[in-house]
Amino acid sequence: MALARTRGASASPISPETLSPDATAAALAPAFAHQLVCWQKSHGRHSLPWQNTRDPYRVWLSEIMLQQTQVATVLDYYTRFLQRFPAVADLAAAPSDEVLGLWSGLGYYSRARNLHRCAQEVVRLHGGQFPQTAELLQTLPGIGPSTAAAIASFCFSERVAILDGNVKRVLTRLTAFSGDLASSAQERTLLAMATELLPRRKLREDMPRYTQGIMDLGATICTSRQPSCLLCPVQDLCLGRASGAPERFPVKTRKLKRSAQSLSLLWAERADGAVWLERRPATGIWGGLYCFPVFTSEDELLAALPAALQGQLRAVPPFVHVLTHKDLRLSPMRLVLPARQTRTLRLPADGAWFARADWTVLGLPAPIRKLLD
Ligand code: ADE
Repeated sequence: MALARTRGASASPISPETLSPDATAAALAPAFAHQLVCWQKSHGRHSLPWQNTRDPYRVWLSEIMLQQTQVATVLDYYTRFLQRFPAVADLAAAPSDEVLGLWSGLGYYSRARNLHRCAQEVVRLHGGQFPQTAELLQTLPGIGPSTAAAIASFCFSERVAILDGNVKRVLTRLTAFSGDLASSAQERTLLAMATELLPRRKLREDMPRYTQGIMDLGATICTSRQPSCLLCPVQDLCLGRASGAPERFPVKTRKLKRSAQSLSLLWAERADGAVWLERRPATGIWGGLYCFPVFTSEDELLAALPAALQGQLRAVPPFVHVLTHKDLRLSPMRLVLPARQTRTLRLPADGAWFARADWTVLGLPAPIRKLLD
């Protein structure tokens, strides 16, 4: 079948206006999978530390770290994690503070808590072996459909589609899919197209390569702004390019609702430099991490201190820390306590004084670490 080759090639028999999404994907499928797999062999990434292995523990660890985090940032963390926890049983047996400490700086700490719980479930429920299908992998904590598909396709060559942000961009452009991805029905349609486009032959070798190829294409060529269409291995198939405006895809209308919150932090420090840190509740902001006592206002912070100490507080310039859905306006108040006054401060029981040497191994929220550094 002839395929769209040039800009404005609206006469192509493959056109999102004339064909249903399923039929568009079916028409593109054989050539797309073949061209992508060949390109991955010759031009894709091959030497990332989580490649060239079918060990689900290593692949799973990398996929969790790579959610919302750039490859360049993950590299060091990945190596350190594997040195400390060479197998899933080592991770399962570790204290949670140590896991959060090693994760410190990667952000999105619910990932670290789920990582630990997942390792424990793999040991307890599956005898230390990861399940081998995307369907079963998804039953584990922190493994969603796309991560499950990545593990199953990389390690077990299962014919199953990943659909992370990069892949959505590649596929909506390839097929000029103009459905609004804010709608879950449109997401399901895209997933059906993604499944249709997967390789059908030589799955053992081609599925891992296809999955890596589509990730590589999204990360290096089919970028959100100024995609490098002239270098793209599927430029001759791409209906988004043929439309003249590939950047138009994906279409997603719903804007992330952002909120803002102001918090006062009590930065209490002893004469020997130790600081008071409390473990945050497991859910909510910085869940499970060690943090200065947090108050919703300066008045609330003052009320927690004996009158004799209130005059010794020094305001540190407030700053804004940006989370995914929220801007935090943080106002630290510093209190340096002479040794004789340390006992005057009655601090909550779930905290402790931590010396500088402890800070490096504790799981601390990024802004607290920045203040302490
Ligand atoms: N992002 C998610 N998975 C990845 C992988 N296997 N390689 C590079 N980037 C990724």
